[in-house]
Parts: sequence; structure tokens; C-alpha cells
Amino acid sequence: MPDAFKGIRIAPSILSSDFGRLGAQIAEVMDAGARVIHFDVMDGQFVPPITIGPLVLSGIADQVHDAGGVVDVHLMIEDPDRQFEDFAKAGADSIVFHEEATPHAHRCCHAIRELGCLAGVAINPGTPVETLSELGGMVDEVLVMTVNPGWGGQPFIESSPDKVRRMRSLLGEDVLIEVDGGIGTKTAGPMAAAGATLLVAGSAIFGADDPAQAYADIHSAAESG
Ligand code: DX5
Ligand code: ZN
Repeated sequence: MPDAFKGIRIAPSILSSDFGRLGAQIAEVMDAGARVIHFDVMDGQFVPPITIGPLVLSGIADQVHDAGGVVDVHLMIEDPDRQFEDFAKAGADSIVFHEEATPHAHRCCHAIRELGCLAGVAINPGTPVETLSELGGMVDEVLVMTVNPGWGGQPFIESSPDKVRRMRSLLGEDVLIEVDGGIGTKTAGPMAAAGATLLVAGSAIFGADDPAQAYADIHSAAESG
């Protein structure tokens, strides 16, 4: 696993960035210490909005890699396995698909690893942790959604720390646990204390006047959680 994924990491989600100056926004958070850039893909089917795909990924991947970082691709799409190869070729370091979007989670994990990426599975707030109980050893990263997927800026679901604790005890210490949605200085500490190590933050970073400072504040909150 690349070092960029190890330890407590805050992953800025470019969903809330200014796409007119995407490269500059990525540079700003990476200069502040970010090493994982979170890349949200939506298809207008699994969730209503449509966002970005492999072409945009290929436009930023070299910048992120040259700065010692990785790109964490979160696929909120139906039939995710049809797209893995294109995202891997475009520079994804991890590919996270939704368990609700395919009956073939086990096969998907295998396919992602074959492409040389970390294999990740996400679950929605309404999906129980036990759904992933047969994937131990197959999955590198589990994303526990702390809002319903589809939009930035939604309020954090308060029962999430308990869910992360249950996921940690189900899958053990070897899997990365990621949380996504409503993460900021108030929620980062409790999520890290519950066992999450990869904390995605979109609007709390790119919606702030000073994204670099916001990144640093959330990182300290997670470290002291
Ligand atoms: C939402 C996306 C998130 C989003 C989080 O479905 O998966 O990554 O950017 O946004 P915030 O941090 O604003 O809740
Ligand atoms: Zn996301």
C-alpha cells in the first residue's frame, strides 16, 4: 500500500472545488500536506447528479503523483465493473465502488486488484456493516458513508461513529476505514477515535476562505480525536 494512504489522512474532495482552477486548488491543499485527493464520480443513475470521469482524472493524476500523492476514486455509479479499467488507466490509485450498485462485490474487488489499484467498497447509511462480512482479505479499503451519497455540504449523520466502530470490529485492523460526508473540525475527532483513518472533506475545505488552513485544522482535530 502506498505510504500516502497510511496513518490518519484527510482527503480533500474536489467535488467542492472550483473546477475553473482545479490544478491550483489541488496544489493549495497538497502544499498544506494533503496526500490523498478524493475524486467523486456520479452517473446520474446511482445518484441523481452527474460529475466527472476518467478524462478529468487523467488531467490531474500526474500533478498529484508528482507531489507524492494518490488519487482515491469514489464511484457512485451503476455497473461499476464496466469502468474500472478506464479509471485505472487514467491514474487511479484506489477504486471504491458501492456495494449497493452491484451483486458482484467479491469479483469487483478482485478485478480492481488485478488492475494494480487498492480495492475499496462503500456502503450507504442505510446498508448494514454485516453486508461486507465475507470480504475480509479481498478488500483494502471500506468507505462508510456518513451522509447519503450525491451531494457535498450535507449534515453528518450522528450515528456514524458507532457504525465505524462496528465495521472496525468486523473487519479487523488491516483494512483502511474511510468516512465521507459532513467531515469537518467537529466530526473529524470522533470519527478518528472510532477507528476511521481516511477522512474525506469537501465543503469544509474548498468552501472555506482559506482551504490550506481548513485542511490543517481538520487534520489536527482528527489527530487529537
Ligand atoms: C458525496 C461525496 C463526497 C462529498 C463530501 O456524495 O461522496 O465526497 O464531496 O462533501 P462534504 O465533505 O461537503 O460533505
Ligand atoms: Zn466521495
